[in-house]
Amino acid sequence: MSLSLDGRVAVITGAASGIGLSMSHRFAGKGMRLALSDVEPAALAKAAKALRETGAEVLEIVTDVSDAAQMDTLASRVRDEMGPAHVVCLNAGVSGGGGPLETLTTEDWSWGIGVNLWGVIHGLRVFLAEMKERDAGHVVITSSIAGLISSPQAGPYHATKHAVASIAEVLFRELHEAGSKVTSHCLCPGLVSTNFPSGDRNRPEGLQNPGADAIPAEAIEAIHKAVQEVFDRGTTSDHVADCVLAALQDNRFWIYTDEVHPAAIAARHRAIEDAAPPPTSFGALDGY
Ligand SMILES: NC(=O)c1ccc[n+]([C@@H]2O[C@H](COP(=O)([O-])OP(=O)(O)OC[C@H]3O[C@@H](n4cnc5c(N)ncnc54)[C@H](O)[C@@H]3O)[C@@H](O)[C@H]2O)c1
Repeated sequence: MSLSLDGRVAVITGAASGIGLSMSHRFAGKGMRLALSDVEPAALAKAAKALRETGAEVLEIVTDVSDAAQMDTLASRVRDEMGPAHVVCLNAGVSGGGGPLETLTTEDWSWGIGVNLWGVIHGLRVFLAEMKERDAGHVVITSSIAGLISSPQAGPYHATKHAVASIAEVLFRELHEAGSKVTSHCLCPGLVSTNFPSGDRNRPEGLQNPGADAIPAEAIEAIHKAVQEVFDRGTTSDHVADCVLAALQDNRFWIYTDEVHPAAIAARHRAIEDAAPPPTSFGALDGY
């Protein structure tokens, strides 16, 4: 398949940082026109400015993906101001809080489910019908290796990333059944050096954990720094964006970014096939 992206519209959620920002630059490099959306206005403005300076045509729309009405607005503005969306990357994501399940709050779950799961559900609701109607385009759903295995301390993240991987598979099968030329892709990065560890910078006021404001700012900063050091050992977001472009070119559904993935996925699937308990270690992937 020869990939024809020049002049077409890419919509990216969570475009102001990390993987979303790198994908935006890669798509711009292919001559695409960009509809960038993110919940963080200043970072989005900075990203849009940098992309415009490369010569890209950019529409920036501040959007909280967990909000149905804001996603409606995103789709209608893209349609009216840029034209039909050709590549839709449903990418915005957050940790959704960490810790053993019994310690997680309703606020943790609401935040994680809102961004990671509702963000994808709304994205498909507002963009997919038109893409199917035109019978063209690509949907890239950002899951994670965390959507294919399960590890302790990150219940909302695993649950939502498994959910969106499943949605991507459902989409793939529905497109196949419809004989559609729209393609579905599930992006499952491993560890990537991004601003993900400080994702709670965008946690809404109403979904803060009770007592969170009593935690000293220095303590939060120290945690962010320690986690960031781990993430900075990961691959680059530019590498992830290259993997996405290659997968669109080759029409590949699963988009992996690390060589350690297959063994971990196989170990989980073997346990399921054997009706054995879940693996209690994924070696290099422990902590995901
Ligand atoms: N960094 C990793 O190791 C890693 C690994 C696997 C998957 N992922 C996934 O990649 C995606 C991108 O994350 P990243 O690593 O680039 O992190 P990042 O924090 O650098 O970028 C995420 C972006 O999403 C935006 N965002 C947060 N909440 C939002 C909301 N409610 N509405 C709209 N935008 C919102 C943030 O402002 C930010 O710009 C996420 O879905 C994440 O789960 C990341």
